[in-house]
Amino acid sequence: MKDRLGRGLRDLRISVTDRCNFRCPYCMPEEVFHGSYPFLPKAQILTFEEVERIARAAVGLGVKKLRITGGEPLLRADLPALVALLARITGVEDLSLTTNGFLLAGYAATLREAGLRRVTVSLDSLDDATFKAMNGRRSGVAPVLAGIEAAEREGLRPLKINCVVKRGMNDQGILDLARRFRGTGHILRFIEYMDVGTLNGWRMDDVVPAKEIVARIGAEFPVEPLDPNYAGETANRYRYTDGQGEIGVIASVTQPFCGGCTRARLSCDGQIYTCLFASKGTDLRGPLRAGATDAELSDLLAGTWGARTDRYSEERTSQTRAGKVEMYHIGG
Ligand code: GTP
Ligand code: 5AD
Ligand code: SF4
Ligand code: SF4
Repeated sequence: MKDRLGRGLRDLRISVTDRCNFRCPYCMPEEVFHGSYPFLPKAQILTFEEVERIARAAVGLGVKKLRITGGEPLLRADLPALVALLARITGVEDLSLTTNGFLLAGYAATLREAGLRRVTVSLDSLDDATFKAMNGRRSGVAPVLAGIEAAEREGLRPLKINCVVKRGMNDQGILDLARRFRGTGHILRFIEYMDVGTLNGWRMDDVVPAKEIVARIGAEFPVEPLDPNYAGETANRYRYTDGQGEIGVIASVTQPFCGGCTRARLSCDGQIYTCLFASKGTDLRGPLRAGATDAELSDLLAGTWGARTDRYSEERTSQTRAGKVEMYHIGG
């Protein structure tokens, strides 16, 4: 199963809701996503059984990794039931979840019992005021740290912590994060602020290049590069030379990794997107609800992947493109 550029289909990122309890200005700015914002009605959102059918079709075409995202996936009622459905699909080698961590303390045990293997928690700062500015004043740091601790207790490992770095907003806290998570066994990853969607007013000046991030950490704690865990990994890995663990940088802006990109994204309303920066998806919900067979579903997916030519991050200039899908819709 190869796309037009010879890339296989290995990962499916599944968004289970377009809602979120945070309002990170780089993703769901408060001015747009206020009280009366028209989120999708329930009838338009895939049921767990529909998600499972699509996931099975994708696994049949070579997908080995499933990741549950949102919006905030823990806002979806009864999420552990979906985890249980996905965990029993033969051929899935990695099943994980990306969450903002706010509700994780209450869910970690049930998620693990349902078959979740690991989690990735977003945490942009350890300083309450900065963190609040990065999440639309929805949460201080404590609930997220409690979520991380609960996940740790449940053995959801390796636990990854994602920090989106925006210059002048939270870049002064990079070292604090490094200090806090060194020696814990968790993998802290810094993400270059990306021009996803059309609402965050992205400017190249706001991006702190991965090289600079690594240099700033390396100045205090020497690091050396590590080989990727798998081809097409999003993060460049580094280890602390004193053996206190590893960090990663996701340099999608300054060092794009489209060449090895094997990721498809399923939105919560059943569209397949073949790039994080796509403008249009392929609808699977319509055919699914009109009674498509498993073979028809698989053909649709295969056709979509086979026609894929996306390499947005490699093509991006200092200018961003108009009309892109929003990140909260496809979960990053
Ligand atoms: P692992 O399986 O643990 O390696 O996770 P991951 O890095 O694939 O997923 P995660 O949800 O932790 O995403 C980390 C960051 O990388 C997020 O900001 C994503 O939006 C970004 N990211 C993930 N996949 C892609 C991609 O294909 N293209 C681009 N440009 N960014 C991506
Ligand atoms: N640039 C980079 N990363 C982003 N994320 C959300 N919006 C952006 C953006 N504009 C991150 C989230 C989460 C991951 C799935 O994507 O913080 O860690
Ligand atoms: Fe919510 Fe994550 Fe978007 Fe922040 S980045 S608004 S936590 S979906
Ligand atoms: Fe894949 Fe698109 Fe990201 Fe490139 S920009 S790595 S093609 S999702």
